[in-house]
Amino acid sequence: MEQQAIEVKGLRKVYAGSKKQESKEAIKGLDLSIPAGSIFGLLGPNGAGKSTLINILAGLVKKTEGQVVIWGFDQDVNPRQSRAAIGVMPQEINMDPFFTPRAALETQAGLYGVPKSERWTDEILELVGLSDKAEAHARGLSGGMKRRLLLAKALVHKPQILVLDEPTAGVDIELRAMLWRNVRKLNEQGMTIILTTHYLEEAEEMCDEIAIINHGKLIVRDTTAKLLGRMDRKTLVVEPRATPSAEIRLPEGVTQETRSGGRLAFSYSRAQTGPEDILLALRDAGIEIRDFATEQPGLEEVFVSLTSNQ
Ligand SMILES: Nc1ncnc2c1ncn2[C@@H]1O[C@H](COP(=O)(O)OP(=O)(O)O)[C@@H](O)[C@H]1O
Ligand SMILES: [Mg+2]
Repeated sequence: MEQQAIEVKGLRKVYAGSKKQESKEAIKGLDLSIPAGSIFGLLGPNGAGKSTLINILAGLVKKTEGQVVIWGFDQDVNPRQSRAAIGVMPQEINMDPFFTPRAALETQAGLYGVPKSERWTDEILELVGLSDKAEAHARGLSGGMKRRLLLAKALVHKPQILVLDEPTAGVDIELRAMLWRNVRKLNEQGMTIILTTHYLEEAEEMCDEIAIINHGKLIVRDTTAKLLGRMDRKTLVVEPRATPSAEIRLPEGVTQETRSGGRLAFSYSRAQTGPEDILLALRDAGIEIRDFATEQPGLEEVFVSLTSNQ
């Protein structure tokens, strides 16, 4: 059987309410397994429960109900081992402004009980591109550098599983590239990566498998390829030599719209129609074609179609 990095069963989280705020059920009975060695994407709109789930995995938020097994260790039975197997780069920047990056990493290593001889502080600083800032005060670091330090902190205990919560939200191109380079490198070295992102094209490019959650529930979990393959609608875009004068008698279920430059876009269901049926209809209408292309829906469409009617 495939080894699982994470196994979650019947997970629930209710944040207690207060005078000002009602209680909130952020996770409503979630089952999810994440295979070891993958780059796994956790997607969902704002407030879906992604950070809550991640923080429960990390042992930062206490679950209300359910079972969480990390790297084979049940969180309730072996809390220390299950915590040691996972490192989290949080969504929010939270750090002591007086620590230098080196001191922050050494302190973090101490918290995880990593013996001095097994620390790899200099390597981590190098990896995230902070070597020359090792002795700078954290309050003097730019936002991007603080994020690099958050990634570095998640790595001190060499976790088998690295979790990144919206690591690229609002960061510059250079930092994003650095992050993905490192994520790929760490994954090639055997680390399981779990990431949440708002950028669907990023998930499409980076992740082997994806789970979409919404309102604290799992909507779908599949390989990225299969998820994209689920979308049945495709678009054929045609550039005619001249503006069509006659009406085009399209096959049933095909819709037409005009795009810039007089291009015509035909949306069709792959189960119902093929592009050749549309091309034949165009020829029957006497339309000469200069060029054409087909468009496959991206994760964006999958996402919208799966989360819109909840
Ligand atoms: N500490 C908290 N106390 C009360 N409610 C919270 C707390 N943290 C998150 N929530 C609520 O739980 C829901 C899920 O939030 P979150 O896990 O942060 O979602 P996401 O990361 O997907 O945006 C939201 O409705 C949010 O307002
Ligand atoms: Mg979040």
